[in-house]
Amino acid sequence: MDIYLETERLTLRRFTADDADLLIELDSDPAVMRYLSGGEATAPEIVRERHLPFIVAGYEKWGGELGLFAAQERDGGAFIGWFCLRPEPDGPRHEAELGYRLRQASWGKGYATEGSRALLHKGFTELGMRTIWAETMTLNRGSRKVMEKLGMTLTDHTPTPPDMQMVEGAELGGVRYEITGEQWERG
Ligand SMILES: CC(C)(COP(=O)(O)OP(=O)(O)OC[C@H]1O[C@@H](n2cnc3c(N)ncnc32)[C@H](O)[C@@H]1OP(=O)(O)O)[C@@H](O)C(=O)NCCC(=O)NCCS
Repeated sequence: MDIYLETERLTLRRFTADDADLLIELDSDPAVMRYLSGGEATAPEIVRERHLPFIVAGYEKWGGELGLFAAQERDGGAFIGWFCLRPEPDGPRHEAELGYRLRQASWGKGYATEGSRALLHKGFTELGMRTIWAETMTLNRGSRKVMEKLGMTLTDHTPTPPDMQMVEGAELGGVRYEITGEQWERG
């Protein structure tokens, strides 16, 4: 296993080309996809032919330091979903997006907060990040709560992208949260 970081209860590891089934299963739950696609599953061939190759290519691009990482429980090894910390494709390396998508069975245990806290710590102390940002739909209370618990600040309201108009609450748009290294250090 190619470990990226560990927290008290979680291991984040790099994905491999053999992990397609984990992502396909995660994206097949309408509750997980509610604020991403309106509940529709991601087609397995999209995961195999686009998403997973893009994730693996990202490790090459960012030297394995940034990207999207599989999360599993340290106790027993169950896959719980993924976290990401990655720059925009053509953006500066010192600004990264934080993201998370967890299996429904793993919700409500504080995992999103725990994994994200570790990513902020690594980003600001080891990876030279200056700003870490995250976006979600205005209606996605759970995701916003995680951002708020991390000490991130609401900085912008964003329009709903054209390919997400079918998502519940699309008319309310999205929200952007940010945290700078200075804000993170002040706690
Ligand atoms: C959003 C998500 C990551 C939250 O994961 P989680 O591990 O359950 O979150 P945590 O347990 O760390 O919860 C953090 C806080 O948010 C609250 N919360 C979580 N889900 C919530 C919800 N649906 N509504 C309101 N509050 C919620 C928790 O109660 C907790 O607050 P507390 O400490 O005051 O009790 C998870 O539900 C998920 O993966 N959803 C589907 C994918 C998705 O929407 N990803 C984000 C897209 S931007």
